[in-house]
Amino acid sequence: MKKKKKINKKRIYRFFAMVLPLCMLLAVLSRVIPDDSFRLDLSESSVGEKAIALTFDDGPTEYTAALLDGLSEYDVKVSFFVSGSKAEAYPETLKRAYDEGHLIGNHTYEHLNFLTSSSKEIENSIDKCNEIVSGITGVRPLFVRAPHGYTTFWQLKAFDTFFVKWSVDTNDWKGKDADYIYERIMDKASDGEIILLHDTSEATVEAVLRAIPELLEEGYELVRVDDLLTRNGDKLKMGVPYRKCEDEKGAVAF
Ligand code: NI
Repeated sequence: MKKKKKINKKRIYRFFAMVLPLCMLLAVLSRVIPDDSFRLDLSESSVGEKAIALTFDDGPTEYTAALLDGLSEYDVKVSFFVSGSKAEAYPETLKRAYDEGHLIGNHTYEHLNFLTSSSKEIENSIDKCNEIVSGITGVRPLFVRAPHGYTTFWQLKAFDTFFVKWSVDTNDWKGKDADYIYERIMDKASDGEIILLHDTSEATVEAVLRAIPELLEEGYELVRVDDLLTRNGDKLKMGVPYRKCEDEKGAVAF
């Protein structure tokens, strides 16, 4: 009798040891944002079957104004993942980018490396960037791109925000010249791609402004990353790093 009781206890422990972490994982994974917390203005921004999101990190800088001039000329919308410290340095440029209809996302205050930082440091850096951006534009960013794209699974789940990665790295951050960056954009252009760029060099701005008219000529729409990710009417989830969204397919993460 005694022996049987022992076995049952073990079974119960084993059951909870297996089921509890699974329940916790499901609770975290199933967190879907409330509808009213995300601007889903699909009537204004219906995206066609051939679209790309150009995204620019680490600005604003002295090169961003020339980029904005070109984007305005072609009536193209992009996304900027700004550093809070740069936003402080170039508030007029940031305000202009926002006023001209581009998405302003958060790239932390000081380009913080998540993998070497504590949760508190990450939270403070995201909050500080949000405060600065909302102080300048009046709107608090909804999207975060982690510097270097590095996050742990639990970091993604710890913050109430939408994470955006990319599907195409142009390598412009390696100091490549305009020809290389231009070729890279044109080679990798395909429906649903999120292209990583940096408005921190003249070469990037030159390459992008050369690529844009050709992409438009090829029939691509160049859209904000929030419009791309919600093009199929999907609700986005917090805590997953989105990187691509093709027409009539769900937004792809990781
Ligand atoms: Ni960066």
